[in-house]
Amino acid sequence: MTNVFSDSSNQVFSRCAIAQSLANKSVVTLDDISTAQIRMLLDKARYIDEHRKEVAHTCDGRVLATLFYEPSTRTRLSFETAMLRLGGKVIGFAGAQLSSASKGETVSDTLKVVSNYVDVVAMRHPKEGAAFVASHAGSVPVVNAGDGGHMHPTQTLADLATILARFGRLNNLTVGLCGDLTYGRTVHSLIETLCRFGNVHFVLISPDELKTPQYVIDRINDTPSCSYEETRNLMEVIGSLDVLYMTRVQEERFTDREQYLRLRDTYILTEEKLQKAKSYMPVLHPLPRINEIAVDVDDDPRAAYFEQVKNGMLMRMALESSVLGDELPGYEPTDFVNVPKDELEAYDAHGISLANPRVHISDENAPENLICPNSRCITNSELTLKRRFYKAESDRHEYHCLYCDEELQ
Ligand code: NCD
Repeated sequence: MTNVFSDSSNQVFSRCAIAQSLANKSVVTLDDISTAQIRMLLDKARYIDEHRKEVAHTCDGRVLATLFYEPSTRTRLSFETAMLRLGGKVIGFAGAQLSSASKGETVSDTLKVVSNYVDVVAMRHPKEGAAFVASHAGSVPVVNAGDGGHMHPTQTLADLATILARFGRLNNLTVGLCGDLTYGRTVHSLIETLCRFGNVHFVLISPDELKTPQYVIDRINDTPSCSYEETRNLMEVIGSLDVLYMTRVQEERFTDREQYLRLRDTYILTEEKLQKAKSYMPVLHPLPRINEIAVDVDDDPRAAYFEQVKNGMLMRMALESSVLGDELPGYEPTDFVNVPKDELEAYDAHGISLANPRVHISDENAPENLICPNSRCITNSELTLKRRFYKAESDRHEYHCLYCDEELQ
């Protein structure tokens, strides 16, 4: 098949090459896939929405396992609905107490078992780096449905689809992220990915105790076209934002309950406060919301969080069919899949192409006695795992844990 198409700037892309290279791929972070592949997923989601009947048998005979060791409503149901709407079937568990993890089974062993039963796995786990472990142990593609406070790539796909629908672009934006930026894994994935599209100014709004982790800040610093500011005051900056991404304070990640209670209601967005925002500024939230957004905001046309839910399902349909290598009947990529010249030619401060995934290769020369300082990292609970590190691209060139990205002191 020579499904080759070209865009106006005469760049030639092989549609098959883009699509096929997603087959069998695990997605721990969106850095695992190229920008062209992210664009193709967005393009496919739009197609799926318009051709629901045509795609209903794309994954006939396939089985998805949802291994959810942490609570979830949206994400698990969304992964499962996506597979059912493509004609596949679903098995799985919701809650570690219902799995052999309660008997002490490791993530690796569980994946080696489940890989025999299914064609694709979606896994959520409280330990950071768990999805990375799963993707190496399993023989089928593993999609990270959230690993502790680290990453949540499929939520980012939903977020990108929502921003794209509102703006028709994913760059040249001022994006405010507000709330728990320390433990909010959706924020980490979103920043990492928006940097790939370039020209984003991030306004990081949080209490001092819940600031963005260094490895995420490094990513912004490493992207010459992106910048950031940090503030505690939402109302001081709300008028400058194109997008506002609200987050829940992640109660389950706190070791100090008093601190959680003190911080949980720091930001409550109300219709009155929205008066100061731009008339077109969408409000995103990965949900569940607790108090961060008053219900009176729901009727404001800027409220985009229920749109995100729909986009999440469509993006998971696109991703599940793609990693299974199942083609959507009738789908022909539009020009949107072609990475525009400026994105293609965007390099980070270290000369690494932002259009291509930034795979962190484990550094074989890393000192062997290093221990990840992150108590939530899976290497500190599953002690048989080989500890692995990579050197960051940031100016400081410090070592980071390959599982959870935490910087070594
Ligand atoms: C988020 C998560 O689990 O990280 N929810 C989701 O997947 N939509 C956000 C959250 O729990 O606050």
